[in-house]
Amino acid sequence: NQFATTICCIGAGYVGGPTCSIIADKCHDVLVYIVDIDQTRIDQWNSDKLPIYEPGLDDIVKRRRGLNLFFTTDVDTAINKSDIIFVSVNTPTKKSGIGAGMAADLKYIESATRRLAQVAQSSKIVVEKSTVPCKTAESMRAILESNSKPGLRFDILSNPEFLAEGTAIQDLLNPDRVLIGSLQTPEGKKAQATLADLYARWVPREKIITMNLWSSELSKLAANAMLAQRISSVNALSALCEATGADIDEVAYAVGKDTRIGSKFLKASVGFGGSCFQKDILNLVYLCESLNLHEAADYWRQVITINEYQKKRFIQRIVKSLFNTVTNKSIAILGFAFKKNTGDTRESAAISLIKYLIEEQAQVHIYDPKVEEEQIFFDLIEPGVYSNENQVLHKVKKLVKVHKDAYSATLNTDALVVCTEWDEFTNLDYQKIYNQMRKPAFVFDGRLILNSDKLRKIGFNVEVIGKVAGPVTVEN
Ligand code: NAI
Repeated sequence: NQFATTICCIGAGYVGGPTCSIIADKCHDVLVYIVDIDQTRIDQWNSDKLPIYEPGLDDIVKRRRGLNLFFTTDVDTAINKSDIIFVSVNTPTKKSGIGAGMAADLKYIESATRRLAQVAQSSKIVVEKSTVPCKTAESMRAILESNSKPGLRFDILSNPEFLAEGTAIQDLLNPDRVLIGSLQTPEGKKAQATLADLYARWVPREKIITMNLWSSELSKLAANAMLAQRISSVNALSALCEATGADIDEVAYAVGKDTRIGSKFLKASVGFGGSCFQKDILNLVYLCESLNLHEAADYWRQVITINEYQKKRFIQRIVKSLFNTVTNKSIAILGFAFKKNTGDTRESAAISLIKYLIEEQAQVHIYDPKVEEEQIFFDLIEPGVYSNENQVLHKVKKLVKVHKDAYSATLNTDALVVCTEWDEFTNLDYQKIYNQMRKPAFVFDGRLILNSDKLRKIGFNVEVIGKVAGPVTVEN
């Protein structure tokens, strides 16, 4: 074997795929297996069209695949060949049982850990990459120790991932920090040093932080809670701006100039989405409540309450502007992904908006540069939720059409709604769009990316989050 180390990543998702592809690209002497139980996903990783869209990812995977980077469903073989195992499986919010709707569902972590215990023939360093509640490493250790062959050692590290979808490759190449938590025993610290050495191949040493396991696990939940809290703070202010005539972009700019606050992550919007923020805050709230810290739980829960409020406010503003009814109106939705530069739609604000429009019998025309039609219908129908699935699908298909570009999506519509901040939406030919829309033509900017003065000059009625509504213009 020409390789110095072999690693295995369990879970070939948005985190496992990019993270371990970067390791393969940065360390040619490390053999990397990325494994999953989902055959379709693995087939996609081995094809020309990867299962996830991330700028820069394609080149990296294609460069290393078949050399020191392999995607496979043969989980057991990969585990056995590896010295370091990353566990990067999904940890969604629990749907039923104790903690339903709040706690993280750890069943995927547990089954991956049990598999690992069962098949391992040698000692391993086990890296918790998934976002998990505090003390999960303890449960993993108990499972590993009581189910594995005698004489084997498992050192568990917490190494939460801070990448953001859409900028994952840049975040991984150039992280603000790499966090590695371990037990403060000599063995724990040795394992910590081994993982630190791996990252040090491309990350400056001073950015690699080590600490105890529980601090590391909690830091990930804390970071996501504070990021989401900034968005909810600015969104709560946007409501106030709309009511007073202040402009949220101006307020955010002024506030962000304070170096203690900083300017990043202060953009008002239709509300945050994505698979992490809501889930991780709920997880934190659950953790607080189970430790009887009710005031702390209430504080964090409010971040989600404001996010829901923001989504609802936007929908209400659309309906109100469209003369209090959207029934039979034709509405173009620009953007379906939860943010730009990703095809990920989990918890996307567009979904709740479109579901509402469907309920109200509006015609909906959707365009997103990276989300496939199949995914859009999947999200709107949520297979498994309704008993009359075919009827729901029929209804949705009657009202919703997915388009290949923004011009086709906006043709003969009454309104266009920007739900995702894709760059291409700022550079569209809005005069052309205006000419082909019904009048009065409305623009609802849920991301504050359009030049509303210019649009108003063309003749649009423009409504922007966090800004006072413009007067309705009617073409004469
Ligand atoms: P994902 O759902 O895209 O990928 C998880 C993969 O694990 C799936 O393909 C699933 O089939 C596989 N899996 C589940 N159980 C398995 C098992 N027993 N054996 C083998 N494969 C198994 O999830 P994603 O987005 O990659 O997230 C993974 C973890 O990383 C979560 O805990 C998440 O909170 C965390 N995270 C996610 C970030 C993101 O931006 N998506 C950022 C930072 C952390």
